[in-house]
Amino acid sequence: GAVRHYKFEVKYRYGEPDCEEKVVMGINGQFPCPTIRAKAGDTLHIAVTNKLVTEGTVIHWHGIRQYGTPWADGTASISQCAIAPGETFHYRFTVDKAGTYFYHGHYGMQRTAGLYGSLIVDLAKGKKEAFDYDGEFNLLLSDWWHKSSHEQQVALSSIPFRWINEPQSLLINGRGQHNCSLAANAMNTSLPQCKFRGNEECAPQIFHVHPNKTYRIRIASTTSLASLNLAIGNHKLVVVEADGNYVKPFTVDDIDIYSGETYSVLLTTNQDPKKNYWISVGVRGRKPNTPQGLTILNYKTISASIFPTSPPPITPQWDDYNHSKTFTHKIIARKGTRKPPQHYDRRLLLLNTQNLVDGNTKWAINNVSLVLPSTPYLGSIKFNVNGSFGTKSPPNTFSEDHDIYNPPLNPNSNIGSGVYMFQLNQVVDVILQNANVMKGQNSEIHPWHLHGHDFWVLGYGDGKFQQGDERKFNLKNPPLRNTAVIFPYGWTALRFKADNPGVWAFHCHIASHLYMGMGVIFAEGVLNVKRIPREAVACGLLKKVLINKKHN
Ligand code: C2O
Ligand code: CU
Repeated sequence: GAVRHYKFEVKYRYGEPDCEEKVVMGINGQFPCPTIRAKAGDTLHIAVTNKLVTEGTVIHWHGIRQYGTPWADGTASISQCAIAPGETFHYRFTVDKAGTYFYHGHYGMQRTAGLYGSLIVDLAKGKKEAFDYDGEFNLLLSDWWHKSSHEQQVALSSIPFRWINEPQSLLINGRGQHNCSLAANAMNTSLPQCKFRGNEECAPQIFHVHPNKTYRIRIASTTSLASLNLAIGNHKLVVVEADGNYVKPFTVDDIDIYSGETYSVLLTTNQDPKKNYWISVGVRGRKPNTPQGLTILNYKTISASIFPTSPPPITPQWDDYNHSKTFTHKIIARKGTRKPPQHYDRRLLLLNTQNLVDGNTKWAINNVSLVLPSTPYLGSIKFNVNGSFGTKSPPNTFSEDHDIYNPPLNPNSNIGSGVYMFQLNQVVDVILQNANVMKGQNSEIHPWHLHGHDFWVLGYGDGKFQQGDERKFNLKNPPLRNTAVIFPYGWTALRFKADNPGVWAFHCHIASHLYMGMGVIFAEGVLNVKRIPREAVACGLLKKVLINKKHN
């Protein structure tokens, strides 16, 4: 493959993602950050310079497994030291598998501040996709707050706890409308009709298509909080890819997409070519307080400024979980997808609960809320530095009598920085168990994302996971993914092979939940990792070790 060079400067700037001026994080002056497009087998060399003046940064390449380059995964405190202001860090890694991906900041809540962009890997030269299409376009979905990410961080770690509330806007390719609605004339809304010349930063990006063609739409969700549903008026969508893996094609009217997920869908432009159609994105899983994100699908046979004759598609009810489950259960692997091992070597049962730690509201896994150490795990383990993180292995399971349908009897939990250590090539099963939150009767959706691997999604179930549920696992054609959701009061079963030497985060992809400790750390075969650049891990306790080594 080719080597592709990029220079990225991370910097704050003024912007109007939803027509209201705010500070946004951008790369090379762009928001959303520039799209990276490569071919499978290419090596990317991305020099990231931190121009943030007073805070560190890192960039994570979401969905890229980083075989042989765990130090390039871009997770602060896990795979590397945060890049200090003024410094440049060189990411070098191979994109081994074609698919739809994205990248984003992975330090504090910088993703919420706007540090994200698309990463698309095309098939290697001479290879053919499993489906045909005439053109493609890209939808990077996000949610946007008027409260800065800094203030959100302060709010979430305050006593008493302050929730960040729902986002002000949903953005499609970084564009949304807060003060007006594109569909005001077609809908029952108090917002005025938007008027754009078209060159405004918050004007919608319109997608132009020819009639009777098939388009591949690449969709990625990098939302901080919102679970989304996407629909295109009058058109069917055929789902063909999820998280960089082919799935058995199936047809739907709308798709659910959780933070951290990506899809490709095929759209055939077989509707009345004398009309334009709405593309709409709405909130699911939380009582929405955010207007739909909208843009237009324009048939090139007519002007793009002609409004669709019917109102935008209605997003399914936020709490219609059957709709979500029906969609999710349709996702199975396409023929030819790698099959899971039939047995596991080690199983983790991970209970997701909201807890209290010294008066702070936290999320905890088996009653441990993750707090990241100042020395990155990768360096600490590889160079055998003592005392940089919790040496106690976190619990494999939780108390059998935990009542998942009610607030925890004792909400007090612990903070921890321990690591689940796997033997290289061990087959690991993870059962994620959802439960009731701390107050009231409620259980939230959590999309869990694994770094460094794809996993097979073996199954979903309602209630508490029971031994017998294993019999219902799909070992025949489970989809390979890097993100999977747990539904309220339910469980999700995953299997993966710990075959990638490194240290890997596994966490809820909701930015505030991760910030509140909703994650765990996995590690395997770290002693086999070769050539970790010094600059990646020379901070915290490792600084001294590496300096002393040089002197000896
Ligand atoms: Cu896209 Cu650790 O996340
Ligand atoms: Cu969560």
